[in-house]
Amino acid sequence: MRKKREELIEAALRAKKMAYMPYSNFPVGAAILAASGKIYTGCNVENASYGLTICAERVAVCKAISEGEKSFLALAVAGDLNHPTPPCGACRQFLIEFQEDLEILLITDEEIVEKSLQELLPHNFKFSKERLER
Ligand code: THU
Repeated sequence: MRKKREELIEAALRAKKMAYMPYSNFPVGAAILAASGKIYTGCNVENASYGLTICAERVAVCKAISEGEKSFLALAVAGDLNHPTPPCGACRQFLIEFQEDLEILLITDEEIVEKSLQELLPHNFKFSKERLER
């Protein structure tokens, strides 16, 4: 697991280099570790119509889901600040759809800050299983 953790962090840092961010000049890289053991990466992709911008985290999770992944173990995020870049509110909701207890690794130059997704998004919105089965 330690090796995978290092791999995940390296993957997020590499993905950050691919960021398309001509408007904010703020690169973000993300890497998500699926239960299969595979790692999927993402970077932010901005647009001249600013609101269409997609965050790195959502790019990574969409890549994984579209490759057939169903559950996830951890997500690493690398921003460009000397403090952590936690996923934005929209990304938290997007991620919790797939994995409530996702481990989040926030990368800075000095340290890796660890959070759980539940901690970042308490009282989140979800349809109950009973409702879906009605
Ligand atoms: N951004 C991400 O990719 N992930 C986050 O969690 C926060 C923000 C991107 C979106 C935009 O391209 C840039 O960072 C500045 O907001």
